Amino acid sequence: MAEMDSTTLDWKADEALAVGKGATIQQFVATLGSDKLAIDVAPWGEGHLKVNGREVAHIDYPKDRRQAFREIKKIADRYVEMHMATNTTKKTTPALPNVKAKLLEGKRGLIVGIANENSIAWGCAKAFRALGAEVAVTYVNDKAKKFVEPLAHALEAPIFMPLDVNEPGQMEAVFDKIEKEWGKLDFVVHSIAFSPKEALQGRVVDVSREGFATTMDVSCWTFIRMAHLAEPLMRKGGTLFTMSYYGSQMVVKNYNIMGVAKAALECTVRYLAAELGPKGIRVHAISPGPLATRAASGIPEFDALLDKAKAKAPARSLVSIDDVGVATAFLAHDAARLITGETLYIDGGYHIID
Ligand SMILES: NC(=O)c1ccc[n+]([C@@H]2O[C@H](COP(=O)([O-])OP(=O)(O)OC[C@H]3O[C@@H](n4cnc5c(N)ncnc54)[C@H](O)[C@@H]3O)[C@@H](O)[C@H]2O)c1
Repeated sequence: MAEMDSTTLDWKADEALAVGKGATIQQFVATLGSDKLAIDVAPWGEGHLKVNGREVAHIDYPKDRRQAFREIKKIADRYVEMHMATNTTKKTTPALPNVKAKLLEGKRGLIVGIANENSIAWGCAKAFRALGAEVAVTYVNDKAKKFVEPLAHALEAPIFMPLDVNEPGQMEAVFDKIEKEWGKLDFVVHSIAFSPKEALQGRVVDVSREGFATTMDVSCWTFIRMAHLAEPLMRKGGTLFTMSYYGSQMVVKNYNIMGVAKAALECTVRYLAAELGPKGIRVHAISPGPLATRAASGIPEFDALLDKAKAKAPARSLVSIDDVGVATAFLAHDAARLITGETLYIDGGYHIID
C-alpha cells in the first residue's frame, strides 16, 4: 500500500496492528497538531476515520480495501482542510464566536441533531447561542453522549437530554421538560435524517417498503411531530427549521431516496407554514450545500459532490456549518417575522446555475 500516501498528512501503518497481506483490518495513523488521526480499512471495503479515538466518518460502499482507503483519505484531507481553515485543531475546548449584539437575547430554542462538531446542528447552535439565545440540546444515544456533552457544555445548555426519535416517548419527554423548565419555546432546529444503507445506496425504483417508510419517518414525519409538540409552547409565535438539500429538486447522483424524503420535507414546510402562520409560527427549510459531516459519509462519492459544488457555485466556495448557522439564526429574529414557508439555499448560489 505504498501509494497510500497523503499530500497533506503523513500516514503510517499502525505497528500495534498486523499490516500486510494476512491482516484483516489495516490501520494507518497520522498526527495533525495535537490531534491523532486514524484510518482503518477492512478487506471488504469498510473504512473508518477517527480523530483522537472518536469516529468522524464511516464508509462501507467501496468494493475493496484500496478504494476504501482512497475514499476515507479524501474525507481525512477535507477534515484537515476544514480544521486548518477554522484553526480548531489548536483549541482544546469548543469556543463560541464572540458576538457583541445579542440579537436573540430572551429567545429559547431546541436544537436536535448534534452528533459532533462537524454537525450542521452544531453550527446552528453556536450561532443562536452567540447571538444570545438559550438552547436545549439532545443526543441520540449513550454512545453519542460523550461527543455531544462538551458541546452542550460550551453552549451552557440548561436542558440536555437523550432523543432517539425511534424510541417511543423520548420526543414527548423533551418537550415536557421544556414546558416545565421554560414554559415556552421560540425556535426548533430539526437537523436529523436517516435512511437504511440498502435504501439510500440503491436505486429509488428498487426501494423496499420498509426502507421507504423508515427514511420518511425519521427524515420527515419527525419534523411534523416536533411542530405538533412545539405549537402549544410557541404561545407568542416562533420559528421551526428543518434541514433539506437540493437533491429534493433535482436528481443528484447517489442522493436517491433521500431526495424523495427531502421533497416531502420541503412540502411539509409549506403546509405547516400555512397552518401555523396565523399563530405567528414560521416554518422554514434550510438547504445547505454539501458539507463533510457524519451523515454525508453515508453518501457514495461525496467528495465529487463537494468538488462540483465548489466549481459550479457562483461564490466558488463550499459552505461551512457557521454559514448555515448564522443564516438560520437570522430567520429566527423578529426582523424576519414576515418570511415563512421558505426553502432557503445556503449554497453559494449553486442552485441558480444550470
Ligand atoms: N451534510 C450535508 O451535505 C447536508 C446538506 C444538506 C442537508 N443536510 C441535512 O442536514 C441534517 C443534519 O445532517 P448533518 O449533515 O449535520 O450530519 P450529522 O451526522 O452531523 O447529523 C445527523 C444527525 O441525525 C441524527 N439522527 C439520525 N437518526 C436519528 C434518530 N433516530 N433519532 C434522533 N436523531 C437521529 C444523528 O444522531 C445526527 O445527530 C440532515 O437532515 C441532513 O440530511 C446535510
